[in-house]
Amino acid sequence: MALKRIIYLYSDSTFTPWKENIFARTIVHLLQSTPDDYYPYVTHFVGFTPEFAQFLKQFDVVFNVCYGYGDEGQHDIVRWLDANDIKHTASNYPAQSIAKDKVQLPTFCATIGIDTPEIIALSDIQTSSYNRFIAKPRMGSLHQNMVVFDKANVPYETLLAKEELIIQPYLAGREFTVGVIPTEDANDYMCLPPLEIRPDDNREVYIAGQNYGRTEKVMNHHLPADVCHAMQAAVLKAHRALGLRGMSRTDVRLSDGKIYILDINTMPNLDTNSFLPFMVKHQGIELKELFRRILLRFELYYHQNEVAIY
Ligand SMILES: Nc1ncnc2c1ncn2[C@@H]1O[C@H](COP(=O)(O)OP(=O)(O)O)[C@@H](O)[C@H]1O
Ligand SMILES: [Mg+2]
Repeated sequence: MALKRIIYLYSDSTFTPWKENIFARTIVHLLQSTPDDYYPYVTHFVGFTPEFAQFLKQFDVVFNVCYGYGDEGQHDIVRWLDANDIKHTASNYPAQSIAKDKVQLPTFCATIGIDTPEIIALSDIQTSSYNRFIAKPRMGSLHQNMVVFDKANVPYETLLAKEELIIQPYLAGREFTVGVIPTEDANDYMCLPPLEIRPDDNREVYIAGQNYGRTEKVMNHHLPADVCHAMQAAVLKAHRALGLRGMSRTDVRLSDGKIYILDINTMPNLDTNSFLPFMVKHQGIELKELFRRILLRFELYYHQNEVAIY
């Protein structure tokens, strides 16, 4: 049987607006994880041109790990791919644009009964019942420009000077990140066990990642089984309701016994030190097997979509 032609589409970190984790070594690892019935090619994103669209259309599948180009973000890339009928593995533009917008996502989650942190107007801080807040870019990613502050010390100047920020109560509590991938037969999606992101000391205020003090990945977190299941059910429900394709990774906080979705990453990083490959591997699933499932799901989506399938 002839091998199918797959092309990995990416922008090196130095070309992306947010400096996502994607380097030559990431691409090497992706190439090595290509299922045996595909022949892999690689390309940088080179621009929103008809010629480049024509080039990409020659392949059976575009494995989309392109997180941006110049000032454009990953959703701009997806909008262009979708508009040019280029078949790719990531979620479609409407789903990605809701997920990346921290104003639209809570409205969407409310329609499916999932809690998200409230959004508080700057003018309502003093009268609100909360004491600690977090401001973050509405369209942000990669934890840039986050500000945590108390009611008594609102940094008005910073908040007004920056790009569009949203303000939420700071939810004290444990944080988890939860991956969703296709099942073995790719007929459905499944939720991986949550990974806890824990501060390296016992500080109450922490932000996931390493930009605001160190945090650690904890798989063996002894989360009570009922809470764990409820968290996985909420994450899977959001993934399905948004019609996300392939895989996703959702940030969750447990605060006062309630589960809140903070953020849904529709194109989780796949570098060797990224969260999703870590969680997948912990589950005994190699990247190659994950790609096999994603590509099978892709086939179902593009070639048998008389039923609504994402
Ligand atoms: N309302 C909140 N309460 C507590 N921590 C928060 C809140 N919102 C965000 N954070 C912290 O900031 C991190 C980044 O926020 P997130 O909404 O996931 O944005 P990004 O798109 O940058 O990943 C979260 O993983 C969490 O650690
Ligand atoms: Mg996040």
